[in-house]
Amino acid sequence: MSISDILDGKLTEKEVEIKGWIVTKRSSGGVQFLVIRDGTGTIQSTIHKDEVAEKIFQDADKLTQESSIIIEGIVKEDKRAPGGYEVRVKDLQLVHLAAQEYPIGKKEHGVDFLMGVRQLWIRSPRQIAILKVRAEVIKACKDFLDERGFTLTDSPILTPSAVEGVATLFEVPYFGDKAFLTQSGQLYVEAAIAAFGKVYCFGPTFRAERSKTSRHLTEFWMVEPEMAFFTFEDNLKLQEEMVTYIVKRTLEKRKRELEVLKRDVRPLKKAEPPFDRISYTEAIEMLQKAGYRIEWGEDLGAPHEKFVSLKFEKPVFVHRYPTKVRAFYMQPDPDDPKLVLCADLMAPEGYGEIIGGSERIHDLKLLEQRIEEFGLPKEAYEWYLDLRRYGSVPHSGFGLGIERTVMWICKLKHIRETIPFPRTMKRVYP
Ligand code: 4AD
Ligand code: MG
Repeated sequence: MSISDILDGKLTEKEVEIKGWIVTKRSSGGVQFLVIRDGTGTIQSTIHKDEVAEKIFQDADKLTQESSIIIEGIVKEDKRAPGGYEVRVKDLQLVHLAAQEYPIGKKEHGVDFLMGVRQLWIRSPRQIAILKVRAEVIKACKDFLDERGFTLTDSPILTPSAVEGVATLFEVPYFGDKAFLTQSGQLYVEAAIAAFGKVYCFGPTFRAERSKTSRHLTEFWMVEPEMAFFTFEDNLKLQEEMVTYIVKRTLEKRKRELEVLKRDVRPLKKAEPPFDRISYTEAIEMLQKAGYRIEWGEDLGAPHEKFVSLKFEKPVFVHRYPTKVRAFYMQPDPDDPKLVLCADLMAPEGYGEIIGGSERIHDLKLLEQRIEEFGLPKEAYEWYLDLRRYGSVPHSGFGLGIERTVMWICKLKHIRETIPFPRTMKRVYP
C-alpha cells in the first residue's frame, strides 16, 4: 500500500499499512501528529491516546525525525490535513530509532553544508520532487525514441579519443597505457546507424570543466540519438518533437512535484512545435545591438545564451555557427563554407543550451582534412574514418543534456540539484 494511493482517494475508510520514515512529529493534548514519508508521498497520521495501547503512545512519543516505522490504521478524509487525508493509527512498530539531532534541521543551511550531506539531503521534499522529475524526463526520452523505432546501442565510457575538444578530457591510466572518460557517445552511435538505422545511447558523460558556473557538471547524463539519412532539417524536427513530448509528459505525470517546486507551468505549456529559430550571425547582431562586446567568430557564452533565450517564449534553435568554434565532425553549410550545419537548442526563461546537434561529415576526404586541421591524432580515429569508407550516408544527431533539461523544467537556479550526487570541479564527496 502506498501513500500516493491514499492521496489519490483510493483507500478512504480502508485499513492500511504504511512502511516509511518520520518527517516531523508534534503532539497536542492527547494526540500525536506524525508526518510520514514512504517514497511515493507524504501523509499525516494521528495517534489518539484513548484509541491505542499505552505502549504505542509512549513509543510514538520517543520517535525522532527520520526514524523508520510501520503503521497500521484507517484512512480518513480530513480537509485540515495537508493533502486532504490522514491515517488514524491503530498500531505502530518501530523499525529503527534514528539518532538524535538529524543534521538537516528546520533552520536555513548553506548549500555547501547540504551538498556535504547529500546522502541525507536527497530525502527532503524539494529534492525528492526534483529527482522524480529527473526520472520522468529520462523515461520520456527513452519512451519517445523507443516508440519511434530507435534501437538503444550503448557507447563505451572508456575511450581512446576526444569528441568535444581535448581541453576537457579526463585521462585514466589503462594498463600501462592511457584512456579517456567519454565526453559523448556520438562517434559510437554513428557506427551503430549502419547496423540499425536509427539509434541512441544514454549514459554518463564526463568533462573536466574548469568553469564553476551554475550549469556545468563534470559528470552529466546525455541522451544521444543518431539517424542515418537524416538531414539537418529532419534533425531539428525530431528535437522539437522530443522536447515537446518530454515537457508534456512531465506536466502530466509530475504535477504534484512541480507544485512542490512552485513551478509556474504556464511558460512550459508554450513549448510546442515549431520552435523559434535564429542563425548564429543574427544572434551576434542581436547581442551587439544590446551592447554585448562579442565579435562574429566567437562562441556564445552563458550570458549570451541567457540573453538570447530570454527574447523568446519557446525554445529557440541557434543554428549555423562558425566552423572554428564547433567540433571537427560537423558538415559544412553548402551556402557558406565558413559555417557548419549545427544548432544548439536554447531553453527559454534564460536557461540557454539544453541540446547540441548537427549534421555530420560523411565524406572521407573532408573528415580527414578536419581531423588534421583540428590537430587531432589520426590513428585514434581510423575506426571512425572506416564509417566513411564502407557505406557512408548523410546523417545527423544530437545530444540532450538531462540535467540542463531538468534544471529548466524545474526552474532551478543551479544544476547541482538535478542529479542525486553531483560532481563538480570542487566536489566528488559524498
Ligand atoms: O553540445 P555538446 O557538447 O554536444 C555533444 O556532446 C555532441 N557530441 C552531442 C551529439 O551530437 N550527439 O553537449 C550536449 C549537451 C549540451 O547541450 C548540454 O545540455 C549538455 O550536453 N552538457 C552539459 N551538461 C552539464 N554539464 C556540462 N558540463 C555539460 N556539457 C554539455
Ligand atoms: Mg554544445
